[in-house]
Amino acid sequence: MKILVVGSGGREHAIAKKFSESPLVERVFVAPGNAGMKRDKLEVVNISELNISELIKFAKDNEIAFTFVGPETALMNGIVDAFEVENLKIFGPRQKAAMIEGSKDFAKKIMTKYGVPTADYATFENLDAALAYVQEKGAPIVIKADDLAAGKGVTVALDEETAVDALRAVFETAEAKVVIEECLVGEEFSLFCLVHEGRVYPMPIAQDHKRAFDGDLGPNTGGMGAYAPVPQIPESVVIEALEKVVKPVVAGLQRENCSFTGVLYAGLMLTKEGVKTIEFNARFGDPETQVVLERMTSDFALAIDDILAEREPVITWCEDGGVTLGVVVASDGYPAGSTKGLPLPETGMTTYYAGVAEKDGQLVSNGGRVYMVTESGGNVSAAQQTLYEKLDKLDNTGMFYRHDIGGKRV
Ligand code: AMP
Ligand code: GLY
Repeated sequence: MKILVVGSGGREHAIAKKFSESPLVERVFVAPGNAGMKRDKLEVVNISELNISELIKFAKDNEIAFTFVGPETALMNGIVDAFEVENLKIFGPRQKAAMIEGSKDFAKKIMTKYGVPTADYATFENLDAALAYVQEKGAPIVIKADDLAAGKGVTVALDEETAVDALRAVFETAEAKVVIEECLVGEEFSLFCLVHEGRVYPMPIAQDHKRAFDGDLGPNTGGMGAYAPVPQIPESVVIEALEKVVKPVVAGLQRENCSFTGVLYAGLMLTKEGVKTIEFNARFGDPETQVVLERMTSDFALAIDDILAEREPVITWCEDGGVTLGVVVASDGYPAGSTKGLPLPETGMTTYYAGVAEKDGQLVSNGGRVYMVTESGGNVSAAQQTLYEKLDKLDNTGMFYRHDIGGKRV
């Protein structure tokens, strides 16, 4: 089988690499991919993830068995709908179902209708009403721009002034819509499930580290590191999340004529009142995917092929009681900006490349998050120790990483 992966980051590197390990797979293409992926014999195709007609042509010309979509933008733009019109197999949600990520208001409506636990909220299309609501509720409070384009626009406001500033910023755009919600307190974790026609196949849970610097300081980023599973979150909580959050939403989307196929990502928080939903995404998370997929011991390509053909897949996970941990190395200045063109070290570890380019046959930095290294161990601190011992010795001039992925390092 030949497989096409759409996207260009570390997440897509991990997805494509996992597919390439299958004895059933002859070639794995990644569009647009990145230069670092070539080290794992993945074939990079120079087509943008948003150029749907060229991707369709490529899939037809190369007899692709199925296409797997990494990033949300392609999904929101209807890549799945367009491939299906051409009778091409593709794993991801249609545009309508991808709204579970694309519109916070839509996600909240589905959760409310199907009784899924989440923060209390209200939606506003008018600044004055939104300001009055914030005044009534007080801080802390969370402000979320409704649409994906402003999706990075989540403000956890610890005081009213911050909330007011966030609202004013959102309402600078005409036709703005904002979701204002209760601030939840607890430990966050991510649960990914492969979903098709109402069936749900869960993966081990993971935890992301969104802040740029050690001790959860600094600005929010795309994610600076992750580990899976999360030993301090008990199995009973994962079952609660599946039964009370994922399954009702999957069934609800089906009933709303929005049946979901693809990876459903539940961003969850374990609060004093149990599991509550922070958000849904319609795709794998980055960087959690890199550590989660490493723990899969079955054939990923066969599983996706089976799921799309409505055969029951066999999916198994490493059950040694251990943990896989990954640390992202980013360019100095990230997330505000980044330096480019710096040579990358040989890591001696499993490495997933993201913001990289090739210069005179050498990999150099070319973006914010540059690469991620992973190691497994019997527990979090064993994995940390192995990883940081190697990472701390590398020459990462012009780049930085967190030293406390997986918990505060002693
Ligand atoms: P993102 O939507 O990925 O940009 O990140 C949103 C982040 O904001 C989440 O990972 C949480 O840490 C935080 N967040 C979102 N909604 C809430 C909420 N209702 N209560 C507390 N924290 C929240
Ligand atoms: N890890 C966070 C995300 O992918 O949105």
